[in-house]
Amino acid sequence: MHFLFKWWNWLCDNVITQTVLVYVAGTLILLKVLSRIYRIYYPRVFAYLMYRVISPIGERKSKKAKRKMFQDLPEVAKKLNVNDLSILEIGVGTGTNFMFYPKGTTVYPLDPNPSFNQYLEENKKVNNHVEVKPFIECYGEDMKSHVADQSVDAVVCTLTLCSVSDTDAVLSEVKRVLKHGGKFYFMEHVATTQGTWFYFFQNAVTPLTKFFGDNCHFNRETWKAIARAGFADVQHETRRNGIMVILCGTATK
Ligand SMILES: C[S@@+](CC[C@H](N)C(=O)[O-])C[C@H]1O[C@@H](n2cnc3c(N)ncnc32)[C@H](O)[C@@H]1O
Repeated sequence: MHFLFKWWNWLCDNVITQTVLVYVAGTLILLKVLSRIYRIYYPRVFAYLMYRVISPIGERKSKKAKRKMFQDLPEVAKKLNVNDLSILEIGVGTGTNFMFYPKGTTVYPLDPNPSFNQYLEENKKVNNHVEVKPFIECYGEDMKSHVADQSVDAVVCTLTLCSVSDTDAVLSEVKRVLKHGGKFYFMEHVATTQGTWFYFFQNAVTPLTKFFGDNCHFNRETWKAIARAGFADVQHETRRNGIMVILCGTATK
């Protein structure tokens, strides 16, 4: 007790220590407040930016490749002997892929960020050739309470595997929910060849893209995770698009 009194008196008399303490405490409080604001508002801001800025740019750049990737969806319906396809879209975002799905498709839109829902509603209106089921708010790593085993004909992930926390867990879930013979469609930006300057750049910017880009990693070797997942047949190609390396393909269960 006596020691505490002595320490308190010393503190009251020492202006420099008081100033340092005030700055440290102020900084900690400011960081706490900022991180709270970030957690509350970032998902909303990100969804808005995706809808207004990022998705329209991405759409222009990837329309042709997506059309090519999704062109065999009717074949999948034929092979699985269904009239209309059911597609689970993981990390659906604003629903940029709806326009590529065949008429009569039922889409199950899944995303952990509920702020996307309002933009999906907009997209539903302009894509009334597909039926969009209610928004499933959930992470792709664990969809067990929302999506049954072997319940969908196709699963789609575009620019999503770069952001998930556990790629292997998501791919294992993709395999679980796909019907036997069902197909997984993916278009993701990935890491380039290791040991190059570009790879060095991708690693250097990843901490920034993780923070500002909703956990987006520029340096993921997603094709390795897809190979590990144990699909019956995997087909993919890689191309460079500006500062992105795009991995595009399908995997059949
Ligand atoms: C860059 S956006 C792409 C959106 C859309 N797929 C597209 O191509 O426009 C990444 C999406 O992945 C979602 N996402 C992030 N982590 C996820 C996770 N663990 N499981 C499922 N989706 C996730 C985000 O909420 C966001 O909608």
